[in-house]
Formats: sequence, C-alpha cells, structure tokens
Amino acid sequence: MHAIRARHAASAFRRLTPSWNRQQGIRLPLTLAHLPLTCRQLSSGSFQGTSVSIESFAEVQAELLEGATFGDYPSRTHKCGDLNKTHVGEQVVLTGWAQNIRKFSDELIFLPLRDHSGTVQLVLKGSEEGKDGARKRLQDLTAESVICVEGRVVKREGSAVNPKMATGEIEVDLASIRVLNKTHKTLPFLPSNQSLANEEIRLKYRCLDLRRDTLQRNIRTRSLAAWVIRDYFIQNDFVEVETPMLFKSTPEGAREFVVPTRNSGSFYALPQSPQQYKQLLMASGIDRYFQIAKCFRDEDLRADRQPEFTQIDLEVSFGSAKDIQTLVEGLVRSVWHKIKGVDLFDGEPFPRMNYQLAMSKIQHVVDITGDSILEAIVLKSDMKLPSSDLKALSQQDNRVLPVVKISEKNIQTWLHKLPFTERIQGSINEDMVNAALDVQIGDSVILNTRPAFLSGGQTVLGKVRLELASKLQAKGLLQIPSAQYNFLWIEGFPLFSPPETPSPVENDGRKLAATHHPFTAPVAEDLPLLASSPEKVRGQHYDLVLNGVEIGGGSIRIHSPKLQTYVFEKILQMTPEESGRFSHLVDALSFGCPPHGGLALGFDRMMAILCETASIRDVIAFPKSASGRDLVVGSPSGLTEQQLKEYRIRVTE
Ligand code: AMO
Repeated sequence: MHAIRARHAASAFRRLTPSWNRQQGIRLPLTLAHLPLTCRQLSSGSFQGTSVSIESFAEVQAELLEGATFGDYPSRTHKCGDLNKTHVGEQVVLTGWAQNIRKFSDELIFLPLRDHSGTVQLVLKGSEEGKDGARKRLQDLTAESVICVEGRVVKREGSAVNPKMATGEIEVDLASIRVLNKTHKTLPFLPSNQSLANEEIRLKYRCLDLRRDTLQRNIRTRSLAAWVIRDYFIQNDFVEVETPMLFKSTPEGAREFVVPTRNSGSFYALPQSPQQYKQLLMASGIDRYFQIAKCFRDEDLRADRQPEFTQIDLEVSFGSAKDIQTLVEGLVRSVWHKIKGVDLFDGEPFPRMNYQLAMSKIQHVVDITGDSILEAIVLKSDMKLPSSDLKALSQQDNRVLPVVKISEKNIQTWLHKLPFTERIQGSINEDMVNAALDVQIGDSVILNTRPAFLSGGQTVLGKVRLELASKLQAKGLLQIPSAQYNFLWIEGFPLFSPPETPSPVENDGRKLAATHHPFTAPVAEDLPLLASSPEKVRGQHYDLVLNGVEIGGGSIRIHSPKLQTYVFEKILQMTPEESGRFSHLVDALSFGCPPHGGLALGFDRMMAILCETASIRDVIAFPKSASGRDLVVGSPSGLTEQQLKEYRIRVTE
C-alpha cells in the first residue's frame, strides 16, 4: 500500500518538476528549495519522497546490470582531495559523488568528483571511440550519483589552474567510469549548493546535508577530539566505564524522559547524567572514572541545548576541587593543542572568579534600601542600535526595565527621575555616577534593581548583556574574535537557590532547590549555617565558562550518608518516597565510600566553539530540531494499538 502511495506521490512530484536544469549541460534536477509547494508538502509529511517502489525482481536485475555493482569494481588508489602535482602521470582509481557536469562539447566535458577529503576535476577530452562508453555514462549522470573512475593525473596549464581549489593544479584525464549507484530520485537539495536550503529540510534529509564540507569537517573534528579525550584520560590512569541508559526516575533536578515497560506501572527513566552511577563507581573502588556519556533532559530547547546531548564525564576519589580543575585544564589544553594548535594560557592555570563577583560584573550604580542594588549597562553612542531593539531588550521577565537616553538636558538629572529614587540610600550624585560609569551625552543606560545577595543562574542584566552582544554582533557593530578562548572558573556558588519557576520538578511550595545537584558538598566553613541559614551556605561547586558559555560543571560530593540524608529531607524537603529513590546512593555512601568529586563538560557545546558555529546542532550527526523532533526518522511517533495494549498505555487527547 505504501509503495502505491509513494508511486502516486512520485509521479505527482515529477509533474511538479517538468524541466531539468540544462544550463551547464548537466541534468541537474530542480531542487525542492525552488519549489515552495513541494517544500510545504515535505515538511507536513504528505510527500512520500523517500521510499522507492518496485514491481518485480527484473527491475532490480536491470539496475544491477547497469552498473550498481557489489564489489566487482576496482579499489580506489587515492582520495580525491589528496591528489596534487606530485601525482602527475600516475594512473588512479577514484570513487565519490558526481557533482555538476560542465559540458563544452562532446570532446570536452568536466565533472568535479567529491569524496570526504575534497573535490578533484575529472576531464573527458577528445573524440576517440574508446571513450564513447565513458562519454555516454557521463552525459546520463545525475548530480550526487556515486561513481568509480579510472584515469591519469595531468597537470593543468596556465589559466586552467584554479588557485581556489586545493587540487586546482591538476585534473584527472578520464579513461573509464562506472556508475555504482545513480541518484534514484529528485534530491530535496544539493549539498554542493552555496545557498542553504531551510534547516527543517536539511535536518530531514540529514545524509545529504552531512555531505556538505562544513558538517563533514565538524563531525570529523568531533571524532578527533573524542580520540584526544580518551587518550588523555587513559594516560592519566582513568578507567572508561559505560553506565546504564535504562535508569530510574529520581528527583535529581532536570525533567526526565521516562520509558514504559510491559510491567504495569513500572518505568525506567533515561539518565539526565551518569551522576549517581559515577558516585557508585567511586564507592566501588574505580578511583578515576570517565565516560563520553549520552544524557537526556526534557528541557526547553535553545541553540545550545538538546534533549539528547553528550557529556565528557569524570569522577575521582581522594581529589580536591583544585586537583579536579587541574585535570580538566589538562584535558582542555590537550584538545585545544591538537585541534587548534594553541597552548592555552601558556600552561598557566585558568583564571577563576567568585560567583557573586561574576554575577555582579555589570556596573554597580548604587545601593537601594531593602537589600537591593541598582545596576546598569551603558550602551555607548557609537553603537547605533535602533530604538525598537532597545525596547525589545528592555522587556524582560514580564517587566520593562528603565532605559535612559542621555542628553544634554538630562545628564545632570537622569538618576533623580528614576521610579525608585526615594528608596536610594544616601544622596546620589549624577556627576559621580556619570564619571564612574563613563556616561556621556548620546549614550543609553539600561537599568535594573536586583537583590544584593545573588543566587541562581543569571541576573536580568546578565541576560540583557548576552542578548545585546548578539544583536550588536548581528549588525556588525561588535566583533568578537572567534578564535579567542576566554576560559574562566566560577566558584563559590550558593549551595541552594530558590526553585526555578515554573520548576521542572514539582516543588510543592519548597523554598530551596539544589543550585547544582543535591549531591554537592558544602564549603566546610559554612557547615554550621546549614541548620540556621541554608541559603547562605556556599557549595564546593565549580563551573567552567568559555566565552560566556557554561561548558562544564562539577563539584566535590557529599560522602557522608548522614549529611546527604539531611540535605534530602531537611533542606530540600523531599518526601520519604522521594528521598527513598536515592537509597542506592545513601547505601553506597554508608559502605565506606571515599571522598570524591568530579565534573562534566558539555561535549556538544565545546565542539560548537571549537568548530566556530553558533548552534550545537552543527556538531551533532543527527540532532533534534528546535522543537525536539528527529526529523530524519520522524520521532517521537505513535505506537500501534497492539503495542499500546502491551504497555498498558491509554492515549488521551
Ligand atoms: P551539568 O548539569 O552542569 O552537570 O551539565 C554539565 C554540562 O553539560 C552541558 N549541558 C548541555 N549541553 C547540551 N544540551 C543540554 N540540554 C545540556 N545540559 C547541560 C553543559 C553543562 O555545563 N552531573 C553533573 C556534572 C558533575 O557534577 O560532575 C552535570 O550533569 O555544558
């Protein structure tokens, strides 16, 4: 039934694409990017473009005889991108994807051939009869067909040299060509096209998109980085351990994905990180653990967040925070050395900053009564951001932040006109504030009041600053060099923060949530505060930030079963049912568990920075779309009635 529907759809599609692009003598199918109607059909899923219909085995045989052979073709001698002047005169066998043919006459046809290493130009010259077969095959070729060619490397002369092409000093004089697998249908887009098709289409037909140079490079760089990482860990006495993917639902922090089983009422949960297992491994005497681990979190997605992502996860026994940070710095240095050829900080330790200071880096203007602070960002007059952009930036968390445009008229009075002036402690003096903030006529000042004691992840002006930077960058008003690597350790986080609203896990009116996760140890000198003012306790938690992006987070863990139980029950106010979900961990801590700590780096985020791309989707082979879907396979998807019955699941609207 599917094949019939596919045939109808395919013929309808052929009717939609009546012409071939013969501009350059190539049978280049019109791409879907040129066909808005068809694009819509594709994304709505009504176009069954990916299955092939078949009537009989004769059709299969005919195709195999035509050349789609299994193994009886010569092995390649070189990769396309490796050929250069030193190979001139050599007979070579190449395999790869045919690109756009340029046919000047029957006696002169060019065909670029691409494999993962690069592209080389094939040329068919002359009218000898011996070349008739190759000429015919070449003329019938559709772009992206897979071919195997034999020929001789020749030097290009004079203006034929292409300095823009890595292999531009040579070409391959074609002797024979075998079509190993022609493109069977009109392609949704051509990977070689400079202008990119929309991201949904590219994500759906990912195997085509992955053929693009940039994505090929990113995926290969990722593989190289993974190799350097494994090598570094093994050299440093770490043991790679795989931990289960079918885990259990525990109130660790993030919202989980659950997996139903055929046992009524029993579910697995996918791990949001291997945190609990790696702590169990410390209790097991593994001493130094690492894993390049898959993690799953059902969170709102952003350019740097995926529901399924990868961590470089590590844990060590008997190590201090400083020991762990030194190990992580060594790891990051090895990766940057191999991939970027740079020696980060010339071997010196990475800089570190206290959390309270990092969060208050925005300019402090003045203290306000009731434990709050007025802070500001000054946008200089030469940053000509349209007022509509400033207005949009000022709308944060359902509030409108004051934005003051400084003019000759208000430069002496602007602070006095703000709505909270009467709550400002002591006298305020514009001259002093203008001098301290370097406020000049023409500048704009964005202001906010915030609590003096900070907790949580980001201040309102911190968010404004990041949005402002990306707006200025997009408008070419701010250049942030991509090859600049500002690593920074942030320490001294509060151990607990007010729960996020809306919270990913039910907070039932609880006052505090773990800032990192509930297993993080308090700073020893703050221990006495745990009972009286838990919100003032600092955690032994450290984040690694790179160019303003959090690429890693870790901590020294609680190894006392009593303290861990106190945190679960008395501070986080877990119910016995909830804290009972961690009994395996408390047991492990009770059986003689060494002091331990660790960290996880976001592998995808790190690779995005290394590959100089803004989206982590560009460094993941099969990422989820912005709405969390795998467009390649079309998941998440429904189940059959029979499956639903087996899992005792009733789907309601
Ligand atoms: P944390 O939750 O800080 O720590 O995660 C560690 C790092 O993982 C990356 N990351 C993500 N990357 C892509 N998509 C996501 N949805 C996503 N969420 C997090 C970030 C982050 O810094 N178990 C602890 C680590 C530890 O304590 O050892 C943990 O998971 O770069």
